[in-house]
Amino acid sequence: MSQDAKLWGGRFTEATDAFVETFTASVGFDRRLYHHDIEGSIAHATMLASVGVLSGDERDRIVSGLREIHKEIDEGRFEWRVDREDVHMNVEARLIELIGDTGKKLHTGRSRNDQIATDIRLYLRDAIDAIDAVETELLDALLELAARHTDTVMPGFTHLQPAQPITFGHHLLAWFEMLLRDRERLRDCRRRVNVLPLGAAALAGTTFPIDREAVASALGFDAVAENSLDAVSDRDFAIEFCATASLTLVHLSRWCEELVLWSSQQFGFVELPDRFCTGSSIMPQKKNPDVPELVRGKSGRVTGDLIALLTLMKSQPLAYNKDNQEDKEPLFDAVDTLRDCLTAMRGLIPAVEARPERMTAAARLGFTTATDLADYLVRRQVPFRDAHEIVGRAVAFALDQGKDLDALTLDELKRFGGDAIEAGVFDVLTLEGSVAARNHIGGTAPAQVRAAIERARARV
Ligand code: ARG
Repeated sequence: MSQDAKLWGGRFTEATDAFVETFTASVGFDRRLYHHDIEGSIAHATMLASVGVLSGDERDRIVSGLREIHKEIDEGRFEWRVDREDVHMNVEARLIELIGDTGKKLHTGRSRNDQIATDIRLYLRDAIDAIDAVETELLDALLELAARHTDTVMPGFTHLQPAQPITFGHHLLAWFEMLLRDRERLRDCRRRVNVLPLGAAALAGTTFPIDREAVASALGFDAVAENSLDAVSDRDFAIEFCATASLTLVHLSRWCEELVLWSSQQFGFVELPDRFCTGSSIMPQKKNPDVPELVRGKSGRVTGDLIALLTLMKSQPLAYNKDNQEDKEPLFDAVDTLRDCLTAMRGLIPAVEARPERMTAAARLGFTTATDLADYLVRRQVPFRDAHEIVGRAVAFALDQGKDLDALTLDELKRFGGDAIEAGVFDVLTLEGSVAARNHIGGTAPAQVRAAIERARARV
């Protein structure tokens, strides 16, 4: 590798140890910030010219040199050098090669400390916007699928035991609520990402008459960081993003767990499209739900990214420390993983094929309308605790007979509930009667699910 003088080499009397050079370099991973690094530098140079620190001619040469470098990188013609340590010094050293001494003026009034803080905020803002767009499409897809299944009855579970009948549409709307909160958190996080650190320089600010507001508006930041020490050391925004990403992945993992269960032979509630599944190298009959399994599996790494960042920050004195260089890989990993998992789900959800007959058959098992029978008794003046006991005994009897509740005769039911039970009881014991009766905001009745979908469309 060709070595040339370090941009910070003046006070050093020996060359950097070869291992230390590699150990301290970040260019292997922070090169992904080149676009945002160059955008930040262009805004900085433009501002320096507007306050008279650079001439118009110097600004123009710097800006066109930076654009040329951007092009070199885009086209794979740029030589990334480990001896130049990071993305910032790779770009700056190349600028000096390209335009000569004027290039040495770019770093006036700036430090890599406020530069990197700016770069990752710009990068993360773009990443958040891209993720927000995929989340929005996924929210739409959930509503579409829910709208097709407002009347499809399935068992609702607690403890993974059949609990009460619900509609599939209602179940999907629960997923919708989770993801909508995730998108809200992402948007909230974005507000704190979108603050400009540049101008803090190394830590204390700069002696030049900089115009931070102009830089902020050129780069689309909503505000300028108030305190220079905080500006260069703060990584809360990255932690918040990883926390949001972790929770989103926890949600996706829960959905995927359900999809894996539901697509099993035992449940058979849904069929996943072949294009989202894979086969076995030994068992010819297998169709495995790899995509949901992998999304479920990937949740762990994002939680790991969050823990890595929290631990990274916990003992750092103000202001910038080299530790901060370790923020990038976890953050990039969280961005990539979240985006890819959402992209996978956005593809998968519209293609999930429900099997209503299997769902309804499963809802018939496990006495899922037992609560309806208890509620029926309560409406006939039996106190709820007594009603619970009566139905419990009726269930035990039905189990013994190998029958469902609605297969018991009126006389058999009366044996437990006495005169409180009349012929109309059979209406509440049907699955359709059970779901239709939960007819209030947030309930599973098909009419309520339809109304909820309408409201949800306005919330997306
Ligand atoms: N590569 C460094 C990072 O990622 C850039 C800032 C370096 N600043 C310094 N004073 N060494 O954090």
